[in-house]
Amino acid sequence: MARARPAAKKAPAPVGITAFAPGKVILLGEHAVVYGHPALAAPLTWGVTARAAPAKRVGLGLPPTLTGKGRKLLQAAFARAAGASGNPPVRVTLESDLPVSVGLGSSAAVAVATARALLHAAGRPTRVRDVLDVALEMEREFHATPSGLDHTCSAYGELIRFQRKPTAARGTVRVVSSARPLKLLIAVVGDRSPTRETVSALRQRIDRWPSRYRRVMEDIGKLADEGAEAIARGDLETLGDAMNVNHGLLGALGLSSPRIDALVHLLRSMGALGAKLTGAGGDGGAVIALFRDPERAMAQPALARAKIRCFESQIAGPRAL
Ligand code: MEV
Repeated sequence: MARARPAAKKAPAPVGITAFAPGKVILLGEHAVVYGHPALAAPLTWGVTARAAPAKRVGLGLPPTLTGKGRKLLQAAFARAAGASGNPPVRVTLESDLPVSVGLGSSAAVAVATARALLHAAGRPTRVRDVLDVALEMEREFHATPSGLDHTCSAYGELIRFQRKPTAARGTVRVVSSARPLKLLIAVVGDRSPTRETVSALRQRIDRWPSRYRRVMEDIGKLADEGAEAIARGDLETLGDAMNVNHGLLGALGLSSPRIDALVHLLRSMGALGAKLTGAGGDGGAVIALFRDPERAMAQPALARAKIRCFESQIAGPRAL
């Protein structure tokens, strides 16, 4: 008589998985990075925490306040990540301390934190490259044709030089170390159109006037490399100038707006070594400014008078103990 085989036991999902992923700022090279040029991006201390608790089947717990398109998009992105990580039986919830939809990498942080939590729950490896593969699934749902810069920066958690040739599956990454503390003031301009719309409108202009736009993109890529060299030497003035020129080129590509420009000029008038939009830009988003002492800059009354929401972040370099 055949002996009954014991039912295969499913490994129980570990209890109380918590995974954090930071938001990001793009120091130099946004948009051009989509077309294969290098860019520099750095993590913020703020980000997204994903929590996974055992459940009957995989699922995402969303607050009832998140409705409409945003809810559907997040659910669709989560379904892709869940499938890519083997649908572990957990319910994932998300918590963020990042301003949303202003170009500070909230969707990439959601993708990386969720990927880490799901992979961990599935008992799969959670090396950076495993996390990147799953997070990319979510980023594709959010942004259609992401360069990969945002979620790669979030997964590395360090200032990186990133480049991905348009036909390559993955980007190349180099961690850039800074000889001096690199501190930014980050100022929020406000709501903006979704990244996928800004990227797609730019693509239409590129398709119409390819050689003109390609020239500008190439220059932006060069600025990213010059910026990386300046950071390695501790030459903040050269980095600041690269940021200023990069902002001008983004304006030339139609990616800035009067609100963004006004804030960039205010920050320069306050002594910033460089200031530019960060992320997709368009009609709003956020601006970054390089100051030797951003805490002192934040205390200047001009920002409070203009009711600007801002914060300071050290993105690389030696830290005071
Ligand atoms: C968005 O944070 C950065 C862009 O360069 C788009 C991308 O890299 O996928 C505008």
